[in-house]
Amino acid sequence: MPELRVSTPGGAYPVHVGAGLLERADELIEALPGIENVFVLADGAHEGKEGPLLGALARGGARVVCAHVQGERSKSVASAEALWARLAESGFHRNDLLVAFGGGVAGDLAGFVAATYHRGMPWAIVPTTLLAMVDSSIGGKTAIDLPLGKNLVGAFHQPVAVIADVATLGTLPDDAFATGMAEVVKHGLIDDLSLLERLDADAVRIGARDHAALAELVTQAAAVKVRIVNEDETERGARAYLNYGHTLGHALEALGGYTRWTHGQAIAIGMMFVAHLAPLLGYADRVAEHADALRAHGLPLTGAQFSFEDVAAMFARDKKYEAGMRFVVLEDLGKPAVVRDVPEDALRAAYEKVR
Ligand SMILES: NC(=O)c1ccc[n+]([C@@H]2O[C@H](COP(=O)([O-])OP(=O)(O)OC[C@H]3O[C@@H](n4cnc5c(N)ncnc54)[C@H](O)[C@@H]3O)[C@@H](O)[C@H]2O)c1
Ligand SMILES: [Zn+2]
Repeated sequence: MPELRVSTPGGAYPVHVGAGLLERADELIEALPGIENVFVLADGAHEGKEGPLLGALARGGARVVCAHVQGERSKSVASAEALWARLAESGFHRNDLLVAFGGGVAGDLAGFVAATYHRGMPWAIVPTTLLAMVDSSIGGKTAIDLPLGKNLVGAFHQPVAVIADVATLGTLPDDAFATGMAEVVKHGLIDDLSLLERLDADAVRIGARDHAALAELVTQAAAVKVRIVNEDETERGARAYLNYGHTLGHALEALGGYTRWTHGQAIAIGMMFVAHLAPLLGYADRVAEHADALRAHGLPLTGAQFSFEDVAAMFARDKKYEAGMRFVVLEDLGKPAVVRDVPEDALRAAYEKVR
């Protein structure tokens, strides 16, 4: 399989994808031989199962310390403070290593702590959700939440390695797997139509979480993110395309109190919304292709429910707001564009289609 490599002004590092990589973490983290202390921040879902990873990290002689977190609520100032304190008490310094072992939550929190402890220490990430493998672990965006909103405090801090062991996906709950598939479909729609074909052709093997099929899928989907990050590390241009479907998706998640929909369900409806918006702005009508790809993974196409006024008020508060509302739409499959000043009647008409 092709070697994936992120290469940005903020750092260059490999993204390893395969089955059985946990046991080889020592080989895959090039910097490890010189490191005295390693702190592993593991998702609680792995409690008692992180042995192979800890064993590999300790093989080179480093002292390995492990702590657990779980759930979006742990992306908090309180968790960050507890981790900073734990690192200080355990004698960690700026040349030691932090390792995140989990989904986007463990990754975002560990990355933020690594970005700030001693003004920045190296970190590696071992993603264990499909979303983290194809999206959040690549690109060095780290963040914690505030009571007022998600991801409001953070930093760009690139890891030294990403190690995606697809064998870990075997225990991932179906709803979390479907959320990752929504991001995979997004990568297909915005950048790589052959990824959508693979989803179709390999549906049975992927559904059975076959390791070889997952490794191919993750490699191809992660490659889209790597390519975009390499072009645009700090989200001034192409990286905005990764926000496809997310403006409405984030609004629905917030309006639903983060419990009504999973992230994948919310962005599926969000992608359908912009699919309906595109022809109203004179672009190709690809609604059917969106619907087919999302439906195949049990993701919803409609059901937004809230009034257009409620949703429009959330759009105006979006973090990506920049001198007016922006939306990512497809001029055609694989051809994303950022549009501004979208007429309200078009937004309303597209929204009514997914409501
Ligand atoms: N930094 C970025 O660029 C970026 C991009 C997208 C999303 N995010 C962030 O990522 C987070 C969402 O990530 P997520 O969807 O991975 O959620 P998550 O980390 O909460 O994981 C989802 C659930 O799966 C469990 N889990 C994880 N791996 C498992 C495994 N292998 N087997 C069984 N259970 C497992 C977790 O305990 C959790 O309950 C959000 O906080 C979001 O803001 C960050
Ligand atoms: Zn997303």
